[in-house]
Amino acid sequence: MAGRLDGKVAIITGGGGSMGSAMARLFTNEGAAVCVADFRPEAAQKVTDELNKSGNKAIPFTIDVRDSKQWQACVATTEKAFGKVTTLCNVAGANVRVDFDGQTEDMWRMIMDTNLTAYFLGTKAVVPAMRRAGGGCVLNIGSLGSIRQGAGSPAYGVSKIGLVGLTRSTAAAYAKDHIRCVLISPGHVDTDFIRGSSEHSPNDWSTSIDNPENYESRRRNTPLGRLCTPEDVASAFMFAASDEASMITGSMITVDGGAGI
Ligand SMILES: NC(=O)c1ccc[n+]([C@@H]2O[C@H](COP(=O)([O-])OP(=O)(O)OC[C@H]3O[C@@H](n4cnc5c(N)ncnc54)[C@H](O)[C@@H]3O)[C@@H](O)[C@H]2O)c1
Repeated sequence: MAGRLDGKVAIITGGGGSMGSAMARLFTNEGAAVCVADFRPEAAQKVTDELNKSGNKAIPFTIDVRDSKQWQACVATTEKAFGKVTTLCNVAGANVRVDFDGQTEDMWRMIMDTNLTAYFLGTKAVVPAMRRAGGGCVLNIGSLGSIRQGAGSPAYGVSKIGLVGLTRSTAAAYAKDHIRCVLISPGHVDTDFIRGSSEHSPNDWSTSIDNPENYESRRRNTPLGRLCTPEDVASAFMFAASDEASMITGSMITVDGGAGI
C-alpha cells in the first residue's frame, strides 16, 4: 500500500525525544526515510535501532542545533545516505521555567539559541538540498507561547512567538523554490519536557506534571479534557509534510485540544 510520505527524506531534530521519536516512527511507517538528529547520541541511536529493526530507513546524527557547522554536516550526511532531503522538522527545544525576575542572561541566550536561532540555522542549511530535490518543506514546532505570552519564562514565549515570524518569512522567501514552511503549535503534551528533568528542560516538583496539581491544571485548561500525546502532534506533522498539504504555507496549525482558545 502506498505510504503518505513515500519518497520523502526528513531530518527530525529532537528526534531522540518524545515528540521527535513519535514523528520518526510515523514518518517511516508512511514511507519516509529519516535522520534522527539529537544532541543526545544514545537517544538518537536507540530510536534509529528500533526503526531499522522493523525494516524502516533511518540514520542517527549527533547535532547541537545551535551550531551551523554541525547543520552542514547533518544535511550532507542525510543527502549522502538517502539521495536527497525534502523535509526538515525543527523539534529540538529548551526551557527553564522561572519567571522574568529569575531568568538570567545565560538562560535567555540558551533558550533563544535553541528554540529560534537554531531553526533559522537549520532552514539555511537545508534549503540548498531542498532546491536540489525540487522542493520541500520546513516544519517548525511552536507552542501555546506562539499564541499568547504569559508571565513565565520570557525567552520561551518570545522564542515561540518569534517562530510565527520566522515561519512566514521562510514561506515567503522560498515559495519560488517550491519550499513550504508551516508552524505546528502543540498545547500541553505529556512528554519528558514537562514531566522529567533534563539539561535542556529542568523540572522540579513545582513544575513537573508528576505533581498531580500541575497535571490537573494543564488538563483543566484543555477544553477537550486531556493532555495531548506525542502521537497527536506527530499526526499533524505527517499531514503537513505530505503532498495533501501542498497549498499550506506560512500558517500555523494548533494541536492543543482547544487550550489556546
Ligand atoms: N511537551 C509539551 O507540553 C510541549 C508543548 C509545546 C511545545 N513543545 C515543544 O516540543 C518540542 C519537543 O519537546 P518534547 O516534549 O518532545 O520534549 P523532549 O525533552 O522529550 O525532547 C526534546 C529533544 O530535544 C533535544 N535537544 C534539546 N536541545 C538540543 C540541542 N541544542 N541540539 C539538539 N537536540 C537538542 C533533546 O535531547 C530531546 O531529545 C520542544 O521544542 C518544545 O518546546 C512541548
